[in-house]
Amino acid sequence: MPAVAKERYYEPAPDSIDVEEFRKVVDSRRSVRKFTDKPIPSDVLNDCIDMAMLAPNSSNLQQWEFYVVKTPEKKAKLVEACLNQNAAGTAAELIVIVASMSSWREHARMTLTEWPQPTVPKIVQQYYSRVAPFYYGIGPLGSWGLVKKGIAGVTGLFKPVPRGPFSHADMKVWAAKSVALASENLMLGLRAHGFDSCPMEGFDEVRVRRLLKLPKDAFVVMVLGAGERAKDGVYYPRLRFDRARFVHEV
Ligand SMILES: Cc1cc2nc3c(=O)[nH]c(=O)nc-3n(C[C@H](O)[C@H](O)[C@H](O)COP(=O)(O)O)c2cc1C
Repeated sequence: MPAVAKERYYEPAPDSIDVEEFRKVVDSRRSVRKFTDKPIPSDVLNDCIDMAMLAPNSSNLQQWEFYVVKTPEKKAKLVEACLNQNAAGTAAELIVIVASMSSWREHARMTLTEWPQPTVPKIVQQYYSRVAPFYYGIGPLGSWGLVKKGIAGVTGLFKPVPRGPFSHADMKVWAAKSVALASENLMLGLRAHGFDSCPMEGFDEVRVRRLLKLPKDAFVVMVLGAGERAKDGVYYPRLRFDRARFVHEV
């Protein structure tokens, strides 16, 4: 009996992307420290946030949250918490980009209930019901993480194994990686719409957390000031070091 070929999902990539337009977006994104008064239309900002959420992310567990700070009193407090940086004070919009270290459990369950095909493939079912909780759980006071570290230490002597996340600190790095990618999508989206941004880590984390009432298993990756670039909004020409310092062919 001839073997029946397994039906594969097929998603063709568009073939008409203009790389020069993409380069223009990437190249013209600068950290802007001074914005004009022009507001960002809400459909533009929403489109940019939607594009942010298309970023690749670990196990598709979508660790991000975006707090668009609208209330004038909250905005004023946030500017202060951003150490009164110009990029915050002049921004038309302030978006606090947050990483969650705990939403993965609910998102693993949601992956199975919201799967975009009539049936959830068995491997996906197994991954989100068993493998993900094994990988990303660290247990009370990191107890399960320590067990996993021990198992990895021994098994790793004989074959390649994942070396984490084993701790709260590992989970923080894990979540931050994906959320940073979303942040970049958001900045490039703004640029493509003719707006600009400034990512900020210069803020008082305690105050920003308090302002947003963040739970303890979430943290601020960056605050993004966004708006229209003022003529003198970019303070210096761009500086990047020689690529030979960074690019290694091994
Ligand atoms: C994680 C992160 C934190 C940053 N924090 C600040 C900040 O607090 N204030 C600021 O003016 N710029 C901040 N920047 C912007 C950098 O200074 C800027 O990206 C860098 O100088 C390169 O310039 P360019 O973005 O114009 O290419 C930050 C950038 C990143 C990625």
